[in-house]
Amino acid sequence: MTRIHTRVIQAALFASIGICTPGLVAQAGNDIHFDESSKVFRIDAGGVTYAFGINDLDELQPVYWGGQVSGGDKFAAATKKPEAASFDSSVTTTPNEYAGWGAGLFVEPALKVSFPDGNRDLVLHYVSHTIKGDELTITLKDVERDLFVEIHYVVDHETGIVGRSAVIENRTKTPVTIEEAAAATWSLPRGTDYSLRYLTGRWAGEWNLQKQAIRPGETVLESKRGSTGHQNNPWFAIERGEHPDEESGDVWFGALAWSGSWRITVEQDQLQQVRVTGGFNPFDFSYKLLPGKQLETPVFYGGYSRHGVGGASRLLHHFELAKILPQAPKPKPRPVIYNSWEATEFAVNEPGQVALAEKAASIGVERFVMDDGWFGQRKDDHAGLGDWYVNKEKFPNGLKPMIDKVHSLGMDFGLWVEPEMVNPDSDLYRKHPDWVFNFTGRPRSEQRNQLVLNLARNDVRDYVFNFLDEILSHNQIAFLKWDYNRNWSEPGWPAVAPDEQKAVYVEYVHNLYGILRELRAKYPQVEIESCSGGGGRVDLGILGLTDEVWPSDNTDPFDRLRIQDGFSYAYTPGVMMAWVTDSPSWANIRSTTVAYRFLSSMQGSLGVGANLNKWTPAEFATAKELISAYKGVRETVQHGSLYRLVSPRDGSEVSVTESVAIDKKQGVIFAFLHSSQMGYPFPRVFLRGLDAKLNYRVTSIAGALAKDTPVVASGSYWMSHGVDVEMRGDFQAAAFRFDSVTDTNPSH
Ligand code: GLA
Repeated sequence: MTRIHTRVIQAALFASIGICTPGLVAQAGNDIHFDESSKVFRIDAGGVTYAFGINDLDELQPVYWGGQVSGGDKFAAATKKPEAASFDSSVTTTPNEYAGWGAGLFVEPALKVSFPDGNRDLVLHYVSHTIKGDELTITLKDVERDLFVEIHYVVDHETGIVGRSAVIENRTKTPVTIEEAAAATWSLPRGTDYSLRYLTGRWAGEWNLQKQAIRPGETVLESKRGSTGHQNNPWFAIERGEHPDEESGDVWFGALAWSGSWRITVEQDQLQQVRVTGGFNPFDFSYKLLPGKQLETPVFYGGYSRHGVGGASRLLHHFELAKILPQAPKPKPRPVIYNSWEATEFAVNEPGQVALAEKAASIGVERFVMDDGWFGQRKDDHAGLGDWYVNKEKFPNGLKPMIDKVHSLGMDFGLWVEPEMVNPDSDLYRKHPDWVFNFTGRPRSEQRNQLVLNLARNDVRDYVFNFLDEILSHNQIAFLKWDYNRNWSEPGWPAVAPDEQKAVYVEYVHNLYGILRELRAKYPQVEIESCSGGGGRVDLGILGLTDEVWPSDNTDPFDRLRIQDGFSYAYTPGVMMAWVTDSPSWANIRSTTVAYRFLSSMQGSLGVGANLNKWTPAEFATAKELISAYKGVRETVQHGSLYRLVSPRDGSEVSVTESVAIDKKQGVIFAFLHSSQMGYPFPRVFLRGLDAKLNYRVTSIAGALAKDTPVVASGSYWMSHGVDVEMRGDFQAAAFRFDSVTDTNPSH
């Protein structure tokens, strides 16, 4: 590819994800600078500038974070803020990039430690730094003791997203207990007109977007559950202004790459400064760091957009696809899958699965996934977890004949596993009752009749890796659906000393990541889905090691519109699995047409989870047609730029999403109507993000446009004039694609 070509593509990418292009002049790897005279570090990339300096106390002090300012503009040296009163010393009034708790700090510290002599005072000063390409490393040290912290900044040239993390190193001669360790503190420009968006949920009701004004005090987003959790997701966005808009205005956002207990605090201090600190959740946490040892925090990514939350989520989507996912920078499109769970639940067997596979193949499915029920004595959720051998009653000849059949139908094969769990009614638990979390002599609380294996133990880690290795080496498997169906209780680890047990919150996740990493290295062709009773383990940590996620067990296609909308604020539709299941849906006993269900699922990575044995010929025909149509737009839907044109939130009667291909050659819209009222027409849809000068031909995937709609018109026409969708009734849906054409003759 020529240099000019690269720049054109980059410009198209920047424009499509809503960032300005001054960064084009800079080269990747040359975005970080240090000004010796002012002692200010400056990161300029993707239309964003991030600056901080070494102040007169030798502490790292934030200087600026926001839209890119000219390279000619010099930032003044960082100077500590004055004491505000005898109650608020300059230590607490001066924003800090990475503050130790000590010297009278009353805002959230990044790091809090205890030394064995009772000293709990930690004051971190700058020692040195290195800049290597897109990475800046700064070494800090306590003013008195040999406790060192390396803080890292890695910048993404295209999006300006910065990944921050810390490595804490004990070079003293005695152990140090870490009581709190954040990855980073992000400081926003001082202001009082900010609002915070964050995501909350529960099982089968994930991805609710919340919004609240940021006022003096602190908001805590967190999981104490041992894993990411459904309740809060480790993502935030902060908008500025009284009435911020989806597509305009300043937005600062961030996401924490950690799949264990986590915490993000958003505080406005007494001087109206807003800080966001995130990392390990300090609740029930401590980590004994032996002399010579290090503890590395997760990475906390942060970014900025001047194009509203719409622009912020497009930046994150492109960053995830290009930098986070295991197949980055060019992830393969997600195949259309079939999953057996809602059709058969635990009652899987060879003839039943083969019958479903034949029907799935006939409509264009590319991957057949057998869900729960195939192993051990698994008849329902009371037994079998932990015993990962094929159930001989259900599969007398093993899995091979079924997998061969699936291959002969032109699909690859995927398998459900839940490696971190055990049913007390299992051979594994009978043999190793000490392998689960427990406090000696205390009850072990079951949830869904299962207990959590303590993956922090290396014997458990080896067991889990070995059984997965065994399954993958003996079967031709292209995909694992990796489930995790409860959160922690009684997280005791009696095999280690009491003062080491709370390290379980870190070691468990490290071993989980280690297993995934090792499996991926050994079986590079195997793709993995992260599922946790739906969307209970979705974060940028697990997404670095898995290819897709299951956002919710709720497959009601109408609820899914809201679930998918919320999901899209933080995560790309390219990893968002969405199945078409049966009607009426189990969640709300709501009936919808098969076309409505397909269009809802086609906004993400399409799957089918219905009982195909019950489908009518007409339903098969619709499914086949829509799966084929999906394949024609999936690259755009999964890897393009998403515009949430009309949100389904807040009881909206209608919703519309649009995806635009990176090269802008294709756009696709999905429109949904809950129920028309008073005979009003569907609101006109104004497209976004197309190339104003290109001509696009509109084609229906499903549904009709007003009769006077041109067949071919310019991007500017579709964006300014808009299109009228003909849609009335209840639970109606339509979808249209816009493909660029080189001529304007509508008859072509
Ligand atoms: C979880 C998953 C479901 C299904 C069941 C199987 O609930 O989210 O999709 O795999 O487990 O037990």
